[in-house]
Amino acid sequence: MRIKRRTKRFFWRVLISIPVILVGGFLYLYFRPPSSAPPAQITVDMSPDRIEHGRYLFTTLCNCDGCHSERDFSRLGGPVVEAGRGKGGAMALEDLAGKILAPNITPDKETGIGTWTDGEKIRAIREGIGKDGSALFPLMPYTNYRYMSDDDVQALVAYLNTLPPVRNSPPKTQITFPTSMLIKSVPAPVGHKIPPVDPDGGEIYGEYLAKLARCEECHTPLVRGEPDPSMRFAGGRVFATQYGTVVSANITPDQQTGLGKWDFLRFQDRIKSYRQYLTIEPPKAGPDRFTLMPWLAYARLTDHDLEALFLYIKSRTPISHRVNPHPGYPE
Ligand code: HEC
Ligand code: HEC
Repeated sequence: MRIKRRTKRFFWRVLISIPVILVGGFLYLYFRPPSSAPPAQITVDMSPDRIEHGRYLFTTLCNCDGCHSERDFSRLGGPVVEAGRGKGGAMALEDLAGKILAPNITPDKETGIGTWTDGEKIRAIREGIGKDGSALFPLMPYTNYRYMSDDDVQALVAYLNTLPPVRNSPPKTQITFPTSMLIKSVPAPVGHKIPPVDPDGGEIYGEYLAKLARCEECHTPLVRGEPDPSMRFAGGRVFATQYGTVVSANITPDQQTGLGKWDFLRFQDRIKSYRQYLTIEPPKAGPDRFTLMPWLAYARLTDHDLEALFLYIKSRTPISHRVNPHPGYPE
């Protein structure tokens, strides 16, 4: 009898503790701050070489412009509107959890990041932590920029500091639940020195460049919101926007459906064919030619960097996957 009563009491205790544990766990996940470290106490060197290298990273390799600057999508390649550089994005991708717009990162004190220290800017770029210590939505590619060398991130910040301040407050990011809770696990402190990658390192250097340029992110299709690991670089990621829809191309070295038949000259020509539009305005283009491939940004890539990128792309696993970049329009 007594044993039975005890078992019963034990059973009830367990039963009652289940919701307590669940609620407690939930509250923990909900209120827990993201993993972060204090920003570095640093004032970046503002030498002209540094700033120039930062400009290259911002406008060309990393294409920060692609998200943070005003662009004219009525024209081929969506050129940057110079006066709106860094003022915050106007484009919301339609398939994300919430309405996410890139903020103003010009040095404007009220609407931009003019009051941030250089250390806070570096932390945001590489570690995904805002000035107030909150987690940034990982559409901001800090999971890639986490590998950015100390020299490169400092050059970027030097360039950011020279942008003309623009007064503009794009609507603040609103992230829907439970994504708002889950993203807290994404930021991570870097916590160690990152030396530069040897520019003569061929494919290894190309891998570093591709990481900063995010070739893989755009060129890998998503399955339930996550990149499909069996389709790396095989294209098929769909970008639906208010300006049109575009699907990324297969850039694996597959002979029939990818870049298998391309040599370096063809790759270089394709990218450089956009060079003319750095000085003259690109032609008008409708949704049938809408693209998010940063052709205009990459038109400025140095031959040295293009070569390293090509070596890296060519060393990927070929995957057979035919893609029409402009669904609904002939290829
Ligand atoms: C794919 C789009 C995208 C690219 C490319 C991108 N960003 Fe961002 N960035 C964002 C979004 C979106 C946020 C806001 C995230 C949030 O509010 O949670 C952001 C936030 C930031 C912030 C924090 C600003 C603030 O007010 O919180 C900084 C600084 C920043 N980005 C700098 C850069 C730099 C420098 C580059 C290029 C090296 C870059 N970003 C490339 C989308 C992008
Ligand atoms: C913001 C997304 C995005 C990024 C970043 C991106 N691409 Fe693309 N890329 C696309 C889309 C979309 C297309 C298809 C539409 C087009 O050709 O304009 C494309 C097309 C291409 C093509 C043309 C393929 C063909 O068959 O004609 C090449 C080559 C290419 N990308 C290489 C790269 C490389 C190399 C990188 C990194 C250095 C890169 N892309 C980064 C979105 C992206």
